[in-house]
Amino acid sequence: MKMPYIIEKKRDGKDLSREEIEFLVRGIADGTIPDYQISAWAMAVYFRGMNPRETRDLALAMAYSGEVIELSAVEGVKVDKHSTGGVGDKTTLVVIPLVAATGVPVAKMSGRGLGHTGGTIDKFESITGFKVEMAYPAFLQQVSQIKAAVVSQSGNLVPADKRLYAIRDVTATIDSIPLIASSVMSKKIASGAEGIVLDVKVGSGAFMKSYEKASQLAKTMIDIGRGAGRKVAALLSNMDQPLGNAVGNALEVKEAIDTLQGQGPPDLEELSLELAAQMIVLGEKAASINDARDLARAALKSGLGLVSWKQMVETQGGELNYSLPSYGLPEAAIKERILADKRAYIENLDALKIGQAAMLLGAGRERLGDIIDYAVGIELLKKPGDLVEAGDTLAIIHANDPGRLEMARKILLDAYHFSDEAVEKKPLIIETIS
Ligand code: URA
Repeated sequence: MKMPYIIEKKRDGKDLSREEIEFLVRGIADGTIPDYQISAWAMAVYFRGMNPRETRDLALAMAYSGEVIELSAVEGVKVDKHSTGGVGDKTTLVVIPLVAATGVPVAKMSGRGLGHTGGTIDKFESITGFKVEMAYPAFLQQVSQIKAAVVSQSGNLVPADKRLYAIRDVTATIDSIPLIASSVMSKKIASGAEGIVLDVKVGSGAFMKSYEKASQLAKTMIDIGRGAGRKVAALLSNMDQPLGNAVGNALEVKEAIDTLQGQGPPDLEELSLELAAQMIVLGEKAASINDARDLARAALKSGLGLVSWKQMVETQGGELNYSLPSYGLPEAAIKERILADKRAYIENLDALKIGQAAMLLGAGRERLGDIIDYAVGIELLKKPGDLVEAGDTLAIIHANDPGRLEMARKILLDAYHFSDEAVEKKPLIIETIS
């Protein structure tokens, strides 16, 4: 098989056979196909797309291009969740213990963040001592015993996606639904869970800016997952504004713990409960979504979710002190209040700008390998729909560097849009596809 022919076929809008896709993925993983041919092919896909069969074949070939996690030693229906990435999205931290508390095992492999959306692993690593690297038998044993574990995605998982993603990142070919869907789902399939709940974000702070594209992405991912014999459900959720009030690693962990104590922001609680409910249904602990919602809510209200969180953190070596307001998480040296200068309603709070401001403070990575400052970030005290008076605190910037603080302040002020008229809040959960 010859790579120029495969590129030419896709360039001319023809469908690739399964054998051609498998040849391509093998060559990506073992390095025998050079970067320039892979980028030409990715650009051809960008313009010509892939049909559902090609997209499934690509995802499956990538999923099996490296190590595949075998979870059958753990009893029960193992479930996983994936978010396409949003600002302030710490739902995984709330959802894992809630679902585990209902008896559904969650063996979570997560990634580090790049760009304006944070990574789950970075959030857990802001807890002193928390280990995200674990030998495979220990990982399985922990999931069997306490139903919950979170580890950093193994280096050998889906090598074809790792190389392809790096090439797409520098050739303007990230923004392609078949390529995104196969990239995400290859990792989920290789991670071994039988049930997968997808949280597809829509809005200014998300990959997918429009409902149409988000819905198409969700349906493509569901099709891939089901084609691989997995149970899949998807939510479309709003990411025009950050989720919850905290943006920044340690601040988000604190907010997740507050939420598990019943004192979190309503939007974070609502989305976490819904994701948990979808996972509980896939994990076969409830016959209907309404029963699953009751189970998730009961795990939150009874405190069993918090018990499960504490067990997981302790087992993975994390040190927290629940009697302190900060729970012993790292705190920034500077806490600067940003005040409203007039009476107005908040019309909009641009999630992308808040993510960029947090990144500037040091909460995220611009490049792979950048060092993160876990303590810094932004606390949003006022959000869209709220009425503010002159002098009210809109937000608190947590910073360790006065220069970065100034830059973040400008972006933060730019992110808030005001109105003289009352503003209606947009629904958080746009649609469920199950
Ligand atoms: N996230 C992924 O894992 N892959 C993509 O292609 C885009 C986002």
